Amino acid sequence: MTHFLGIDSSTTATKALLMDAGGTVVGVASSEYTYETPQPLWTEQHPDLWWQGTVDSIRQVLAQTQVQPTDIKGVGLTGQMHGLVLLDAAGEVLRPALLWNDQRTGAECDQIRALVGRERFIQITGNDALTGFTAPKILWVRNHEPEIFDQVRQILLPKDYVRFRLTGGYASDRAGGSGTILFDLASRDWSSEVLEALDIPSEWLPKTYEGTEITGALSAEAAQATGLRAGTPVFGGGGDQETGATGNGAVVEGVVSLNLGTSGVVFAAVDRPIVEPEGRLHAFCHAAPGKWHLMGVMLSAAGSLRWYRDTVAPGTDFETLLAPAAEVTPGSEGLLFLPYLTGERTPHPDPLARGAFVGLTVRHTQPHMARAVLEGVAFGLRDSFELMKEAGLGEINQVRITGGGARSPLWRQILADVFDAELVTVNTTEGSAYGAALLAATGAGIFPDIESACAATIRVTGSTAPGPAKQVYQEVYPLYRDLYPALRPSFNAIARAVA
Ligand code: XUL
Repeated sequence: MTHFLGIDSSTTATKALLMDAGGTVVGVASSEYTYETPQPLWTEQHPDLWWQGTVDSIRQVLAQTQVQPTDIKGVGLTGQMHGLVLLDAAGEVLRPALLWNDQRTGAECDQIRALVGRERFIQITGNDALTGFTAPKILWVRNHEPEIFDQVRQILLPKDYVRFRLTGGYASDRAGGSGTILFDLASRDWSSEVLEALDIPSEWLPKTYEGTEITGALSAEAAQATGLRAGTPVFGGGGDQETGATGNGAVVEGVVSLNLGTSGVVFAAVDRPIVEPEGRLHAFCHAAPGKWHLMGVMLSAAGSLRWYRDTVAPGTDFETLLAPAAEVTPGSEGLLFLPYLTGERTPHPDPLARGAFVGLTVRHTQPHMARAVLEGVAFGLRDSFELMKEAGLGEINQVRITGGGARSPLWRQILADVFDAELVTVNTTEGSAYGAALLAATGAGIFPDIESACAATIRVTGSTAPGPAKQVYQEVYPLYRDLYPALRPSFNAIARAVA
């Protein structure tokens, strides 16, 4: 029986997911690892961990399901985005990879803005130069480790290092390429203008493919290591956000995916490259062929609630914590919460932003504070929706919610009210690895296109409609929006004072 494999090389584990041709998940296995923080603001990981994780998780899922390798008709790849892998002429790793959450490249971001011109850079790539992305990492190695830089002959993303070990060839996908910010967003390929301005040789970059295209075939060596069949096609796939949204069905305009995990990601598929002129939203190629997407990233979403619970009511389960918050009136009687506990990315790319409770009075109790946290996160996520609308995104018909925060009915209601949109849950919970397997199945011809693949496999399992509280939130949201600009000077001063 035909099966497809999705492999997700994340920051903490590699996951292998086996799916049958009807889209039913038949097995999932994962292999965990850690990452290093050699200096404050630095995060690094050795690419061998992803390869070992890939081998382990594939071997586990094959043993668990007893699916025959000859029945696996394709592999789809996904993983952490923006990481920098540097190889020499022999394909050897030159140094540990710099990861997406590494923050050392502030000066290189300024260097990029100066070399290309900030406005022009946003126009071409769809994004401002941010520390998380790949391009400033390349400049950092050139500026700080010239002896390593001199040996560089190939640049890859984490997932594409796994692809290299699987197929022996260098290739990437369009979503990943755009996440390097060396891409011309509209033409879905490397930007010669940006590469020339930054003096990065184009021959160091791999050829890019759409998410459903074949990028190579499993080598005999990789077959030996993993237990898969040599010659199995390896498809393009995409970054974890793009394949996660695919696995959630956010491949058509009007359907927005919201992942409410530690961070909160608002993801909207678009049929044309839309760019927020200030670069406050990320704009990348979608893993769905010929599509793009806009993305807003809140750094502490469900992470804010976890912080609140661990600080105020340690050991309490979330259901117990939130039950009394449901009795508090919407708007928490004038108590507002700013969720910038680890700085922010969207809509305020500000590492110095801080969290705050504003409007406390003696009437406020712990349940008011818990509700204010849920509301503050919802307002912060609405900021991404507002930026998307301003940038030209059409009607949002449905928001598909996943992640740990999606389990709270109270939070789902608050989000539907604050967004004034229907919020739904879906049957697929395996996110990125599932989306990667769906892309492989589509590429292999099981589905005519990725939209049909999603329509055939992803079902709505629950729905929350906006209720009467949406009126209250319409009034409170502008009050929330006024707080960050008012407090920013204080956040800066506080950071200086405690630095
Ligand atoms: C997306 C991003 C993260 C990483 C984490 O822009 O930085 O989602 O891909 O895995």
